[in-house]
Amino acid sequence: MGCTIIGCGKKLPKLDVANDELSKLVDTSDEWISARTGIRSRRVCVNETNVDLAECAARQALGWEEDGWAARRIAPEEIDLVIFSTVTPDALLPTGAAAIRRRLGLVNAAALDMNAACTGFIYGLTIAESMMAAAAPGAPGAAGRNPIRRALVIGSERLSRIVDWNDRNTCVLFGDGAGAAVVEWDETKPGILSWFIRNDDDIDNALTCMNAFDTPQPFTEAGIDPAALELPDPSFASIHDEYEQTERIAAGAPHQVLHMHGQKVFKFATKAMPDAVEEVLRRAGLGIDDVKLIVPHQANERIIRYAAKRMKLPLERFQMSIAHRGNSSSACIPMTLCDAYEEGRIQPGDNVVLVGFGGGFTSGAVLFQA
Ligand code: ACO
Repeated sequence: MGCTIIGCGKKLPKLDVANDELSKLVDTSDEWISARTGIRSRRVCVNETNVDLAECAARQALGWEEDGWAARRIAPEEIDLVIFSTVTPDALLPTGAAAIRRRLGLVNAAALDMNAACTGFIYGLTIAESMMAAAAPGAPGAAGRNPIRRALVIGSERLSRIVDWNDRNTCVLFGDGAGAAVVEWDETKPGILSWFIRNDDDIDNALTCMNAFDTPQPFTEAGIDPAALELPDPSFASIHDEYEQTERIAAGAPHQVLHMHGQKVFKFATKAMPDAVEEVLRRAGLGIDDVKLIVPHQANERIIRYAAKRMKLPLERFQMSIAHRGNSSSACIPMTLCDAYEEGRIQPGDNVVLVGFGGGFTSGAVLFQA
């Protein structure tokens, strides 16, 4: 018995921005971007919100639309849980998950947002699987828990809101999009065979993005002081001192945008991905030859090539989608998984590995049987 994927969907915003067009903003070229990253274009939101994208992806995963892939149509009341992974929520309240619950009429669903950076969809699946297993008939203590039979797991991002469009080191890499999957607890199928999640300290602050809480604070260490409303928030400065790459900030870059030290992330990613794949296989007692397809996070084609080389696998065993999307953080894996289902690359009985890494640093993998 296990947690089985029964539907997948994806949605990209309309506007397609080719590499050459970015040279209107920063000193870059199609040649540099495509050679260093494999990216040729990316989709960017203009009017679409994060929740708009997520809603479209979710409708496909639920089997309500022709696009995407779904084993069958799921009724709104059949969903017990919505997990919405994002680093770029439209709002803190309502959560993205609550907005989806309301828009889709998922009347029985508990709903939560989560953030594990680009590994968010992997983490989301592990949460869904764990909650389902804990509440499955016969599980110790199951009667005391919400019965979770079906969950909607979403990875949805509007990264264009946090990208500094004047920073050529980052702005060429990212795009917007959403992916979603419906998972179901099935007594007759193995579903998810193993999973592995991990955090390593990002000791060099290679990936950071400060948030924008900026209501004036009427407090000092001595207590309430209305005059303090006119002063900068002292904790804001200490958060910045702790996490930010001060060189760029010192050079005048804005605070509330994504900052990245590309080479440090690259080094982390090329080890974290093969390690995570190896670990899920070890936990399931399988070898790499038992795996039909690997669906990796799409941050840079070179990272995937390096990881493939480490695993001694041809690139054809990896589902790729970076060329016309760029990196859309936690949306990459579910969108790319949806591609694989739509292209018929995943058939019943196939073993598939989803693997990712991201800020924090997070990393992880899920091995499932389709
Ligand atoms: N166009 C032209 N030149 C550029 C650009 C650009 N867009 N960006 C950087 N350069 C220049 C640099 O300024 C540098 O010039 P210099 O040698 O004169 O100083 C030169 O190109 C080389 O820069 P590097 O940073 O050394 O280039 P590298 O080969 O490392 O590629 C890249 C950079 C693509 C960012 C790579 O390091 C990478 O992919 N890293 C991982 C990124 C990643 O995975 N991010 C995940 C984020 S996950 C999340 O949570 C959002």
